[in-house]
This record gives sequence, C-alpha cells and structure tokens, in this order.
Amino acid sequence: MRLLLLESESTMDQFCKSPSETLPFDFVLNLMNPRKAQKLQKCYDKLGEDCLRILIVYDSQSVNRNTEKVARAIEDVLKEKGFEVNCLFVKDADPANVKTYDCVIAGAPTMAFRASKPIIDFLDRLDKDDFSGKLGATFDTQVPFRFSGNAAKGIEKKLEKLGFKIITPHLVTYVEGNRENIHLKEGELEKTKKYAEDLAKALQS
Ligand SMILES: Cc1cc2nc3c(=O)[nH]c(=O)nc-3n(C[C@H](O)[C@H](O)[C@H](O)COP(=O)(O)O)c2cc1C
Repeated sequence: MRLLLLESESTMDQFCKSPSETLPFDFVLNLMNPRKAQKLQKCYDKLGEDCLRILIVYDSQSVNRNTEKVARAIEDVLKEKGFEVNCLFVKDADPANVKTYDCVIAGAPTMAFRASKPIIDFLDRLDKDDFSGKLGATFDTQVPFRFSGNAAKGIEKKLEKLGFKIITPHLVTYVEGNRENIHLKEGELEKTKKYAEDLAKALQS
C-alpha cells in the first residue's frame, strides 16, 4: 500500500494540479482538509484504473544474470513513469496469468542462435486466442558477432503469432568476456534505459 501523507494544503494543491505527473497512491491523508484529500484519492483511483499493467518476463542463466539486469533496468524506468510492472524470472511466471496484463515485455539470452529454451517453452504454453490487441516488446543479450543469432527477434515473432501488437523495435544488448565472467558491455544499461523511456512513450501514446 502506498500512502501519501500531506502536511499542508499548499503541497496538496501542487499534487491536485497534476495528479498524472505524480505517482498514484492507494491512500491519501490530509487531516487539515480531508475532503480535498478524498478528491485527490479519487483522481489517483481513476489513474490506477487507466494504468496499463505490464509483465516483464525474462530468462537469465549465467552467474552474472545479465539479461536479468536488463529486465530490471526496464522495470525501474517504467515504474518511475508510473506504470504498474511485474518483473518475473520465467521460472516464477505462470503462463495462465499472462492474459491479465495489457503489455508483455519478454527477454532472454541468445543461446545457440535463438532465445533460450525456458522462454520459448513459456511462450509455447500461452493460449493463442487470448492476446489479440495486447501490446508486446522484446529484448535480449547476445555476443557482438555477425552470426550471433537474435533471441529478441524470435520472441517478437512468437508474440506476434500469439496476437500481440509489437509497439517498439526489439532491444539488443551486448555481452562480453569469457564464459565464467560474461558481463554486459559498457554503456548497455544506459542504452536499455533509453529504450525503456521510448517504450514508455509508446505505451502512453
Ligand atoms: C551454451 C551457450 C550458447 C550460447 N550461444 C550463443 C549464441 O548463439 N549467440 C550469442 O550471441 N551468444 C550466445 N551465448 C552467449 C549468451 O548469449 C550469453 O551468455 C548471455 O547473453 C548471458 O546472459 P545471462 O547472463 O542473462 O545468462 C551462448 C552462451 C552459452 C552458455
């Protein structure tokens, strides 16, 4: 539960001016002016209803959990922008719940030129009929070689087949290093944040 406790009426007036630019709260309390607090809470309730529910589902396999880092960076930006986001490791995600989300962002490491098996298995378990009109986006990690393959592209195709509308070009992030210490290349998390900001704009439009 997110509680907004306002100490003065002037702070409350600031919040009332632009409720959509401040994060929605579940409960607003102002003892000086309870009626105004109630009004502001109604605004937040309405925003909550309008708020898109997003699932980020990812696989990650190496000790450095690079794809997870990318997923978490996307999650942070989208949450900052006020979206309701669940970011789940694929083995903790239930395919039966996917239809409760408005948007699915799926990502995986590229392995043997395609998305890793757990994410493919997860997508294969989704029911085809439920997703037409839902929004989708994808990302991956891969090594920067010409013939690396591209997990994100494959996931994108699967989402499209399921009926998802892809809202932004997939994100490719690069890793380097040897197998025991494979890590994101410098600048990849910044690139991810920029991608997530573009994604947020696409979701808002
Ligand atoms: C068995 C195996 C196969 C791989 N195959 C590819 C590949 O075909 N193309 C590629 O770009 N990277 C490949 N990689 C590198 C992975 O993409 C890299 O380890 C991964 O991005 C790391 O992400 P993670 O830390 O989230 O597991 C492979 C790695 C392993 C262990």
